[in-house]
Amino acid sequence: MSRFITFEGLDGSGKSTHLRRVAAQLAARGIPHLVTHEPGGTPLGEALRGLLKGERYGVCDGFVELLLVFASRRQHLRTVIEPALARGETVLCDRFTDSTFAYQGAGRGVPNESIAALDELATGGRRPDRTLLFDLSPEAARERGAGRRRRRGERLDRFDAEQLAFYERVRAGFLALARTEPERFRVLDASGPAGATAALVEAALADLWPGGGE
Ligand code: TMP
Repeated sequence: MSRFITFEGLDGSGKSTHLRRVAAQLAARGIPHLVTHEPGGTPLGEALRGLLKGERYGVCDGFVELLLVFASRRQHLRTVIEPALARGETVLCDRFTDSTFAYQGAGRGVPNESIAALDELATGGRRPDRTLLFDLSPEAARERGAGRRRRRGERLDRFDAEQLAFYERVRAGFLALARTEPERFRVLDASGPAGATAALVEAALADLWPGGGE
């Protein structure tokens, strides 16, 4: 049976690494699946991702960000995610609408009602079947994410340049979402070593596939 599973958290929380690990486990069991991400996942979405993250476009506020991410999301949902689910594949998606409530809502201050209204127009309020939230302090996430990229000499983007206070709000936004939908969310402590978090991930998905905890 197809499932739509999303991986959420701050940049540096380890969500993408664990998503790849889950994909490898599904592949080993012969479970058809699709790995994708937001913003992006389509040619249009990748272009919008560049506009959202780039320093040079002068994105002026959270509303502009909101419009960009939902344009990407609708295209992604209609042309990639829904067709994969219809084919019976499990979709593993790195970020989805929860990121918008956390980043543009809690982080930038766009009212939740505005986000919900656009969400309804763009996706019909589509929600994943399960969402893993990799919870980590902004300090630790920055050290693992932007800090590591800086040391490697990689380019930092507009979100990397935000203050820790912004990420405190984003983290709190994610945790508030998890409290409102406890059936969908699994909040995982991502502060330990990767192996410890991997065990939490397996436990959080164990009921979805037969013998899922193996
Ligand atoms: P990432 O794919 O490296 O995590 O980067 C995506 C960036 O875009 C990240 O900083 C969070 C941001 N973002 C939003 O602000 N709103 C959204 O709805 C999504 C999906 C991502």
